[in-house]
Amino acid sequence: MRNENSVLSHNPLRHGLRIGRTPEPCTMVIFGASGDLTSRKLVPALYNLARERRLPGGFSVIGFARRPWDDAQFRDLLRSGVNANSRNGSVDPALWSSFAEGISYLQGSFDEAQAYAKLSERLAELDARRGTGGNRVFYLATPPESYSEIIHQLGAHGLSRSPNGGWTRIIVEKPFGRDLMSARELNNQLLAVFDEPQVYRIDHYLGKETVQNILIFRFANGIFEPLWDRRAVDHVQITVSESIGVEDRGGYYDRSGALRDMIQNHLMQLLSLVAMEPPVAYDADAVRDEKVKVLRAIRPIYPNEVDHYVIRGQYGSGSVSGRPITGYRDERGVASGSQTETYVALKLFIESWRWAGVPFYLRSGKALPRRVSEIAVQFKTVPTMLFADMPLNAIEPNVLAIKIQPDEGITLKVGSKVPGQQQIRPVTMDFRYGTSFGVASPEAYERLLLDCMLGDGTLFTRRDEVEASWSIITPIHQGWTSGSALLSPNYEAGSWGPAAADEFMLRDGRTWRRL
Ligand code: BG6
Repeated sequence: MRNENSVLSHNPLRHGLRIGRTPEPCTMVIFGASGDLTSRKLVPALYNLARERRLPGGFSVIGFARRPWDDAQFRDLLRSGVNANSRNGSVDPALWSSFAEGISYLQGSFDEAQAYAKLSERLAELDARRGTGGNRVFYLATPPESYSEIIHQLGAHGLSRSPNGGWTRIIVEKPFGRDLMSARELNNQLLAVFDEPQVYRIDHYLGKETVQNILIFRFANGIFEPLWDRRAVDHVQITVSESIGVEDRGGYYDRSGALRDMIQNHLMQLLSLVAMEPPVAYDADAVRDEKVKVLRAIRPIYPNEVDHYVIRGQYGSGSVSGRPITGYRDERGVASGSQTETYVALKLFIESWRWAGVPFYLRSGKALPRRVSEIAVQFKTVPTMLFADMPLNAIEPNVLAIKIQPDEGITLKVGSKVPGQQQIRPVTMDFRYGTSFGVASPEAYERLLLDCMLGDGTLFTRRDEVEASWSIITPIHQGWTSGSALLSPNYEAGSWGPAAADEFMLRDGRTWRRL
């Protein structure tokens, strides 16, 4: 007879949810703490964790940046950041005052040896005063140009190893390189000072609840996996559309573009979660082993094939939901004849037994009509038409849509008889997070900061993953710079992207989903 216990004990998700663990006391040092990320995302996330009693006692933050602030000024700035950005509304004064006790500021340049000596002293002092036990997280929240200097200085001051048997970890924000070569170089610099298990490359999409649910959906339910391959699936569409333009980030964005800013990281991560094989365990290496195999199996797009597999666009002026949007080239920080793409659509093939011949279409753009992220798996249609008086094309294919944001949930589209008529119409079976659970999902950064403090790298990107992803993206950029026609604004803000992206799908006899 089958032993249920042994089945359970081999369930790879058994250890997966990690509910309610609290990390050991530690200090988080945020480099670039005067920047937007700290007050908009990092500290609101830490505050929410404190509110839910998920932070360890003695938890401390050191903000390291150039501005000549003192502790009080820094705390005030963070308090307004939390007020403006916390999902829990405004700050609770009592909670804030105990949380803020652990926050201090250290003024210094990233290349100033003395500042690191002071940092070292401050860390030792916190270990003694707040019991942080030599445990540290360094967070690189600076522009990427400073990463290499900070890593070097941390190494030179012996800060990559903890005293007193504690642990040291480093979180690296995006962008992680701008092509394969620079990503490799950054990995080499990091790994000359830290060991891979100490390095946490962040991709905030992996911290989103709906993204984590992809693995639960696939591997904790028996009914979908037998359909999850080239026999049943016609194609997959992954969309991350944004209704905002580049806003005040023109300077950064113009050097990046949609392919680097969104596809290389967020969409490639979604693709690998949807396409991966079941991991042998739910732990950091087993999951990342499978994700990296997907990336390695992607058929490369060579520079001379780029126009065949990739469409790029740039928005001109227009309006989104009645709000006027300036054309990309007129945004602050953007070059007047900029060749930077604000929209990309591409087709990838994964050359594996599971996926051979199934196209994966990815698209992402700014200044589109709505903010929507979803993964849609479209199944093959029925082979013959049983219902003779209805034309075959009256039946729409089944689509399973994983809605990442907003309206988080999963829907399955099926054909159904219209009551009282000889007609088939598509209907959806819906699961919505909001109705099923009735609680707000935590912000991505809450989960990711906590996981790093717990030493769990599952939702962070490993060295080989990031390099495998750049190996796909870099030749596309090479194709654009060497051969392609020049880019000029080819879609109006508030439209669904360039007409060429629709033609690109029509050539394959398919259409983009209407979102
Ligand atoms: C960031 C990009 O990584 O992700 C931004 O740099 C983009 O350009 C953002 O707007 C989108 O994230 P989210 O969580 O709002 O979908």
